[in-house]
Amino acid sequence: MSRTMVAGNWKMNTSPAEGARLIQEVMEKVGTPATRVVFGVPALQLMQAQELVAGHTNYAIAAQNMHQETSGAYTGEISAGMLSEVGIEYVILGHSERRDYAGEDDDLINLKIQRALEAGLRPIYCCGEKLDIREAGNQELVVGKQVEQALYSLDPEQIEKIVIAYEPVWAIGTGRTASKEQAQDMHAYIRRMIANQFGADVAQNLTILYGGSVKPNNAVELFSQPDVDGGLVGGASLDAENFAAIVNAIGG
Ligand code: PGA
Repeated sequence: MSRTMVAGNWKMNTSPAEGARLIQEVMEKVGTPATRVVFGVPALQLMQAQELVAGHTNYAIAAQNMHQETSGAYTGEISAGMLSEVGIEYVILGHSERRDYAGEDDDLINLKIQRALEAGLRPIYCCGEKLDIREAGNQELVVGKQVEQALYSLDPEQIEKIVIAYEPVWAIGTGRTASKEQAQDMHAYIRRMIANQFGADVAQNLTILYGGSVKPNNAVELFSQPDVDGGLVGGASLDAENFAAIVNAIGG
């Protein structure tokens, strides 16, 4: 099975009409993709987006968040079960913006991951260090701790459902991308951690995406690294032409 994937994270952008157009345009430009293509759309658009990709090979939809409880008095929240019932396949969890603006930490993210898996969703788990950590050379320590706290309590069958997105915070929305060597080094480190904890086969099949200012002009070199299996794309996923070019950069 191929490990590759390109996922768009639209964040709080696009109206429902714009979102529908964007998905249709990407599908027209790309056709049937050689890799998994995932649209991470705003909650309001999840059902519409799912209907647009249903029956199209290799396309899927991701939610950008969900609550850690299965139901109850949590005003404004959406549960894993609600997402899976309407056919959503993925959920982005642990994004640095949610860590920063909603105070999410890896213990909470671990709970969300468990709930997502119980509901049959596939979590896209985001991790990554801030600039001061990178400058101090402590990125493996910090990302290692994130991965350990969020994922080590799972069993190997659960880890097989997880996608990891390494997103150095200093590269998100800044136009500053990790070099291909920086990305490869961290991806290889994460894969080694997973191999040590869950076994070589699990690690070998694990999809590890890079995120942080992925653009058409840097996607080929990033994706050509042996442990970089694709990208989680923010800004450039809002433009059909750019996103299609990034999708086509896989294996290209
Ligand atoms: P960016 O965002 O591509 O705009 O840097 C990536 C992300 O936040 O997932």
